[in-house]
Amino acid sequence: MEPDMNTQKPRPLQGRQLLATAATLGIAPWLLSACASAAPPARPSAPQAAGSRRRLGPLEVFPVGLGCQWRPGATPGVIVDSYSSRFDRTAAIRLIRQAVDQGVTFIDTAEAYGPFLSEDIVGEALQGIRDQVVLETKFGFDIDQVTGQRLPGGRNSRPEHIRRVVDAQLRRLRTDRIDVLLQHRVDPNVPIEDVAGTIKDLIRAGKVRHYGLSEPGLQTVRRAHAEHPMAVIQNEYSMLWRGPEAGVLPLCEELGIGFVCWSPLGMGFLAGGVNTASRFVAPDFRAISPRFAPEVLPANMALADLVRTWAQRKNATPAQLSLAWLLAQKPWIVPIPGTTNAAHMAENLGAASIVFTVDELQQLNAAVAAIRIQGERLPAAVMAMSGVEAPPKR
Ligand SMILES: NC(=O)c1ccc[n+]([C@@H]2O[C@H](COP(=O)([O-])OP(=O)(O)OC[C@H]3O[C@@H](n4cnc5c(N)ncnc54)[C@H](OP(=O)(O)O)[C@@H]3O)[C@@H](O)[C@H]2O)c1
Repeated sequence: MEPDMNTQKPRPLQGRQLLATAATLGIAPWLLSACASAAPPARPSAPQAAGSRRRLGPLEVFPVGLGCQWRPGATPGVIVDSYSSRFDRTAAIRLIRQAVDQGVTFIDTAEAYGPFLSEDIVGEALQGIRDQVVLETKFGFDIDQVTGQRLPGGRNSRPEHIRRVVDAQLRRLRTDRIDVLLQHRVDPNVPIEDVAGTIKDLIRAGKVRHYGLSEPGLQTVRRAHAEHPMAVIQNEYSMLWRGPEAGVLPLCEELGIGFVCWSPLGMGFLAGGVNTASRFVAPDFRAISPRFAPEVLPANMALADLVRTWAQRKNATPAQLSLAWLLAQKPWIVPIPGTTNAAHMAENLGAASIVFTVDELQQLNAAVAAIRIQGERLPAAVMAMSGVEAPPKR
């Protein structure tokens, strides 16, 4: 069994735990040495969603997507997320199909999630309904395409590797094209012009339709976009982490690039899944994330309390309120909440029908801005892969 996040005692991370935990966010391990009490029937739900479509760069999708980031659990047949949830392959496939049935048209996954397992599940789930969704996946780590083993190279965006990965992804995803291909993290050894140029060739070959970068440096975005126009940037963004507001979002606006928010529920924090007594143990990624450490949780709970208060005011759940806040920031932002729970998935789609008045949004933004979140958003070794500028093309 995987550990329960709220009942285990905290203990120092051992090497093996650290490695397992590193894998959860698709991170190369070697780089690491209340719910609203409002009446349920009135809560927003997907079918009544007012905003049923939004622009995402050149694409058009349902405002709330679905993140599919799962890997094998320690027990055979068990599939786990990056936190403390688990289910099995049948339930995962059912969840994805239900999401599409309920209106989701944007699905995110990655080669590194598993590795391979998440793409394989997504591929099976989309059989017969593939054309109804925009399918996004990622490359960028040095993963053996046969065994799924992580190789000691760390990141790998060399052109020949990208081509090999995409062919393998098409097989796993059981499709003839990837709608959005993302570089998971910028490779410090490969000029971005070479990466974008390789993807441009894959687009010409019909294997890829659009591309984007995840957690890139700003100059790298400009250089890639000049080589071939980029569709999306995918960074962490939520009320818990508002870093993109300083540079990435203005750049997206300037260049017409869509923005996809990862961990839009603050790894469950904004959905009401964390309290001051929460203690996380590996492989739950929050066990090594400084902002979830026992000493900062009491201060950080001010944000969870704010979300709960506003959720009640808007007759929504905390998760819905948190996703609606993201949607309200820009009309070209799409969150991809991750879940193993079909009821949570359906609940999250209801965020699309929550509307804020200008005055409400100003009040909420000001209240969020007044709360100083304590603790870094990610462990230092993971942070080191964010905002990286690719080397110049010689
Ligand atoms: N580009 C990158 O580097 C990167 C990094 C991380 C993630 N991602 C992508 O972003 C996606 C989402 O990020 P994430 O999973 O890290 O974080 P998240 O979406 O912020 O939070 C997921 C957590 O929230 C819980 N949850 C979801 N909906 C809920 C609801 N309505 N009520 C209560 N709890 C709820 C989930 O538990 P339950 O299973 O119990 O619902 C899970 O523990 C991933 O699936 C992945 O596709 C990308």
